[in-house]
Amino acid sequence: MLLTRLARPTTRVLHRLSSTSATQPRPSGVAAALLAAKDPNFTMAPTIHSEFALNDRVGLISGANRGLGLEMAMSLAEAGARTIYCVDLPPHPGAEFHAVSAALRTMRLSGKLEYVSADVTQQETMWSLGKQIGEKEGRMDFCVAAAGILREHTDCLEYPRGQMEDVMRVNVNGVLYTAQAAGREMERFGKGGSIVLVASMSGSLTNRGHAWLSYNTSKSAVLQMGRSMACELGSKNIRVNTLSPGHIYTSMTAAFIDKQPELSEKWASMNPLGRLGRPDELRGVVTWLASDASSYCTGSDILVNGGHHAW
Ligand SMILES: NC(=O)c1ccc[n+]([C@@H]2O[C@H](COP(=O)([O-])OP(=O)(O)OC[C@H]3O[C@@H](n4cnc5c(N)ncnc54)[C@H](O)[C@@H]3O)[C@@H](O)[C@H]2O)c1
Repeated sequence: MLLTRLARPTTRVLHRLSSTSATQPRPSGVAAALLAAKDPNFTMAPTIHSEFALNDRVGLISGANRGLGLEMAMSLAEAGARTIYCVDLPPHPGAEFHAVSAALRTMRLSGKLEYVSADVTQQETMWSLGKQIGEKEGRMDFCVAAAGILREHTDCLEYPRGQMEDVMRVNVNGVLYTAQAAGREMERFGKGGSIVLVASMSGSLTNRGHAWLSYNTSKSAVLQMGRSMACELGSKNIRVNTLSPGHIYTSMTAAFIDKQPELSEKWASMNPLGRLGRPDELRGVVTWLASDASSYCTGSDILVNGGHHAW
């Protein structure tokens, strides 16, 4: 009886199933199969890869001269994005950025990375950059706020004001200004969008043996910023999620591991997978978050940390 009912869906059920995603060009999955069962003119085709595709889309990523920001920019370009504006501090991009841009050209992808030297702590600069991108490209589809800093160990009772302010300025204010720069354009174009704020597992737990008060505090703030923005922007179909990596070897963590190689083993032993993460292990999750494949995900924190939080 149940099978019969599923095999012959009513028009209302079909409509509900096929309209679950505002951005989906055509029904997919079970809804598509049910349509095909009803309408012989409806041709089935696999859609799962196209749900992750970013064809012709435009985005902004901060901290993308190197490290996780650059890794994520490259994966989003491979997923089909037209132009990804990569913001970072140095006046000119570094060797890693050039290597990635060259590799994308070699792969004959239509998309490209565009380097922009800017400081995410400057709100007006970031807003004006977002506007310029919107005016030039006529759209703004995704944003990844990845710029962040981590300072040396500092005793919490001695924590100096200047250091606290520096970290909060980049890791909290800068993340907000980056999200605003893209979000204001998404709102202007009225087609929704996806904003990913890079937090850290350090926003939800304290790394044992590390006196990183300002960093941990700033990352907790990013988690709540993501939830708050998601709630305000949901009605505009602008999704906001946070991405919380665990220990991944980049310049940021190299500053500690290279001085104390034993840290590598210590950190690895603290997660069930028993190893540090690689930057490329964020490629899938950021592509999922930026694309329509995550169209019903907002206000969430996605932990990618080898299971560190589970112990
Ligand atoms: N590597 C890890 O294990 C790890 C873990 C959790 C979270 N994260 C987060 O991921 C993000 C990227 O970190 P990463 O490991 O790639 O570090 P990274 O130091 O390699 O990259 C950070 C980038 O941000 C840029 N940046 C710093 N201040 C800026 C500013 N004011 N304006 C513009 N750009 C600025 C830096 O120049 C650098 O290119 C950070 O937010 C970090 O907190 C990293």
